[in-house]
Amino acid sequence: MKRRDFVKGTALTALGASIIAPLETLAGSRETHLESDDLSNAVVADDNYPLNFVAIGDWGRNGEYRQKEVADQMGKWAATHANKFIVSVGDNFYPKGVVSENDPLWHYSFENVYTAHSLQYDWYPVLGNHDYGTDPEAQVRYSKVSRRWNMPALYYSKEIDIDKQSGKALLVFIDTQPIVYDFKEREPEKQLQWLDQTLANAPADVKWKIVIGHHPCYTVGPRIKNYDTLSIRKALSGIFEKHKVDVYLSGHEHSLQHLKADGHTHQFISGAGSELTEVTAGTPYCRFQASEHGFMYFSINAGKLRVNAINDEGRVLYETILSR
Ligand SMILES: [Fe+2]
Ligand SMILES: [Fe+2]
Repeated sequence: MKRRDFVKGTALTALGASIIAPLETLAGSRETHLESDDLSNAVVADDNYPLNFVAIGDWGRNGEYRQKEVADQMGKWAATHANKFIVSVGDNFYPKGVVSENDPLWHYSFENVYTAHSLQYDWYPVLGNHDYGTDPEAQVRYSKVSRRWNMPALYYSKEIDIDKQSGKALLVFIDTQPIVYDFKEREPEKQLQWLDQTLANAPADVKWKIVIGHHPCYTVGPRIKNYDTLSIRKALSGIFEKHKVDVYLSGHEHSLQHLKADGHTHQFISGAGSELTEVTAGTPYCRFQASEHGFMYFSINAGKLRVNAINDEGRVLYETILSR
């Protein structure tokens, strides 16, 4: 150490000690509570629906195609309605995913778009086909960079308390691209076995089984009969029926839809986070379809599950309530 630094350091230490000692005797506590470090939503959940979450898909376009407007509206909605977390149903980054956890697209298409305080909650994502364009695992690794991006693996599950007395919702997040295109190296059969087991092992207090993936099993958009839709339907329908899955929530089609084909499972598409594609009316198994920018809002209690579709102007386009 140079002499000059030694003198400076010694002087500061002596000065510090002489200031800190009297302050400590004056202060009642070493902790101050002048600023809140609590990000929790100020809106108390409606007693009727203690568990709420927002679902958005097909969004990452550098704020364009009204991505920013949808994000702003989602922020306003989550600031005025109780919300615990955000689900992303994939196609998180166009056109080809992210190249790494340091890709600037994290800023251009995510962090600097979903800026509202009310959106600084846990995001639970799945991947879409576009996310497979470069490094899909980078989106798992980003969970170590971001406090709010929570993607523990390419597929994973969460049991979430509805409230302390009402049991749980089981959310199962799946990785549909390897299933649709049978990427052998990614062992799609193993994932399907895991899905089957996870649903089979659901604890007795699970009131709702919700599966989240990118590709829809049914749609009234452009992919109504294409390979993707038929392939994922073939892979998942049997498992959904066997375990009485209540809701399958997906994206891929750039619209908002509620579909109820034969069987137990209600299907929702929330893929309107940026660019839009058309929908057609009049299909018997379709209960709601809108080619409008927006997102969905799910509200859950032990006996009922409510779904709202909200557009980029904050208008509620649709509401449905499912009962157990
Ligand atoms: Fe998409
Ligand atoms: Fe897609």
